[in-house]
Amino acid sequence: MSEPYIPPRRGSVNEPIRIAVLISGSGSGLSALLNHQQSKPCVHITKLIISDNKDARGLHYGEDFKIPSLTIPLPESVDRNKQRIMHENLIDNALLDSEIELVVLSGYMRILTSNFVSKWKGRIINIHPSLLPKYPGAHAHRDALADGAKITGCTVHLVDEGVDTGQIIAQEEVAILEGDTIEKLQDRVKKVEHRLYPKVLDIFCSQGI
Ligand code: GRF
Repeated sequence: MSEPYIPPRRGSVNEPIRIAVLISGSGSGLSALLNHQQSKPCVHITKLIISDNKDARGLHYGEDFKIPSLTIPLPESVDRNKQRIMHENLIDNALLDSEIELVVLSGYMRILTSNFVSKWKGRIINIHPSLLPKYPGAHAHRDALADGAKITGCTVHLVDEGVDTGQIIAQEEVAILEGDTIEKLQDRVKKVEHRLYPKVLDIFCSQGI
């Protein structure tokens, strides 16, 4: 059993935890989180949105909700390791400039290096579309269907140096139905994600896990 993790500060409605959301794509999870934060007094608030992809459809939520949004693409470099470190340093500086306390990955498609993870240890959370440790990586729905699984789901977890290996905070099951395709399954799992992630963040930001 891992030790319970308590964030550096307990958020309150008057002093909510300052969140940055990192995305790469459609941002439906970001949208659900922003709607949740606006619909009621909340112990966390999104202060920054970062995308590594300038074409990420989710970027428009920053404009819609009047939240600063940055596109930080991978910088040019021949050395892949240097390139990742440079990229993460740019992200780290943006997080520090906005006094971010918690990094929320929501469809962010890059693996973070141990350099970045160690700086933010215990303060990076991810949602993954399977019941981890089953089907880690970028093709969770494809892998679950290929495996003939009857049940899948989603997992909210702390991010560590591995790929989808960090401490699990919460999971919810979703049944795989006859005739499911990747798209159909993804849609149903996302509906659950959009409820689960904001709820877990409420608890995490107010009392830890
Ligand atoms: C979600 O299914 C999430 O679990 C995974 O990436 C997907 C992001 O979707 N990590 P969206 O960009 O929020 O629509």
